Amino acid sequence: MALHMAVEVVRDSTDSLTSQIQEFIKREISEGILHPGTRLPSSRRLAGDLDVSRSVVVEAYGQLVAEGYLEAAQGAGTRVVGHLEDKPVVPALLDEGQVPQVRWDLRPGGSNVPDFPRREWLRCYQQALHVAELSHHDYPPLAGEPALRRELTSYLGRLRGVRTTPEHIMVVGGFAQALGLLCPVLRRLGIDALAIEDPGHPGQRQFVRESGLRAVPVPVDDEGIDVDALAASGARAVLVTPAHQFPTGVTLSAQRREALARWAEDVDGWVIEDDYDGGLWYERGVRPLALQRTMPDRVVYAGTASKSLSPGLRLGWIAAPEPMLDLLLRARARHDLGTEHLTQLAFAELLSTGLFDRHLRRLNSLARSRRQALDEAVRRHLPGATVLGPGAGLHAYVQLPRRADEGALVAGALRRSVLVRGAAAFHARPRGDAPALVVGHAHLPRSGVTEAVRALGAVRRW
Ligand SMILES: Cc1ncc(COP(=O)(O)O)c(C=O)c1O
Repeated sequence: MALHMAVEVVRDSTDSLTSQIQEFIKREISEGILHPGTRLPSSRRLAGDLDVSRSVVVEAYGQLVAEGYLEAAQGAGTRVVGHLEDKPVVPALLDEGQVPQVRWDLRPGGSNVPDFPRREWLRCYQQALHVAELSHHDYPPLAGEPALRRELTSYLGRLRGVRTTPEHIMVVGGFAQALGLLCPVLRRLGIDALAIEDPGHPGQRQFVRESGLRAVPVPVDDEGIDVDALAASGARAVLVTPAHQFPTGVTLSAQRREALARWAEDVDGWVIEDDYDGGLWYERGVRPLALQRTMPDRVVYAGTASKSLSPGLRLGWIAAPEPMLDLLLRARARHDLGTEHLTQLAFAELLSTGLFDRHLRRLNSLARSRRQALDEAVRRHLPGATVLGPGAGLHAYVQLPRRADEGALVAGALRRSVLVRGAAAFHARPRGDAPALVVGHAHLPRSGVTEAVRALGAVRRW
């Protein structure tokens, strides 16, 4: 069937054609312009009409199938799914979309809920209630509870090598709030563009754009962000994930760290360090320390309890030099009246009693075991594929052989009840790198990792 479909793409956009097609179709479905059950042109036909390569459309369709917007049936082409539930408003930073019910959900993001240290948290929360009872109940200090800022200072110094003092710490509602405060502050400083890693977090890209800054994608290779490309971009601020790049998992090399520090001096710029999974490191050998320690006057270091405890706590922290912290506090004063204080006191107690460190050890040992299962299963069921990066965090980047069809693998996996994101969803620009999958293992038991990868192996076509 030679169907036609109007799709708007902009060739000189910083967004890849795949992501533009994907976003356009999603919008048309969400706004009720593309109706349930509508059959779409074949990938070959649409690619021809748009004058783009067929793999661009195959990837876009594959991701939309994986997100539950489209369905592909053998011989019946690709259609808009029959029933789309009313979608609640979803913040840009979350990967929700229309999530199909599946046996194995490999999307990165979130933490392992069963591993939350319930007993320890309860004990610390009770203590927090006791302490709060003794002091007066009032609005919390805007920068955070002093007890937590003290504990965070020693924890961050001890575990991540962050150079800071309690006066330079601000407790926030996760990295999302940190970024939400930083974007307008950068604009006040006369900065109109924020460089971001490519591939990177697609939600952060959108969030930065919606905050009125240009989001400038800068390529990442196996040493981390390409600092020459960053310098050429003209941006004066950059958002990086140096310890465990999201999503490729690589660690910023020593040479690149030095180059980044030189760049920041040269352009009088700012580095935002997103240490989102900083406490989760289970690779043998030395763990990378925070980038902040090499240039504390130019880095805004941000951490979060979302991976190590729970994203539901909405708890994060910033370590920033004096002038920046002051601007962040002023920006915050226009948004809220501080972070809920019992959670802060409970977390301070978890840190001071050593219970948080004990919890991290347990979490790391569970994650190490899942990563080992992933390495083994990939070797066995996805020959030619490689798991990149050190043992760290709650996800891994599985690079596929060049000849692999990423979109087809993602769509095939869903037919076997495995929801996995292809790397295309994380790229802003057309890619030169190999196809890949971003595999989150936070929600899976070890045996689930093996089973999910076995299902991927059953649909591979290389
Ligand atoms: C790259 C990256 N940064 C930060 C976060 C955490 O954000 P928040 O602290 O707002 O939950 C995540 C969570 O998945 C992430 O993937």
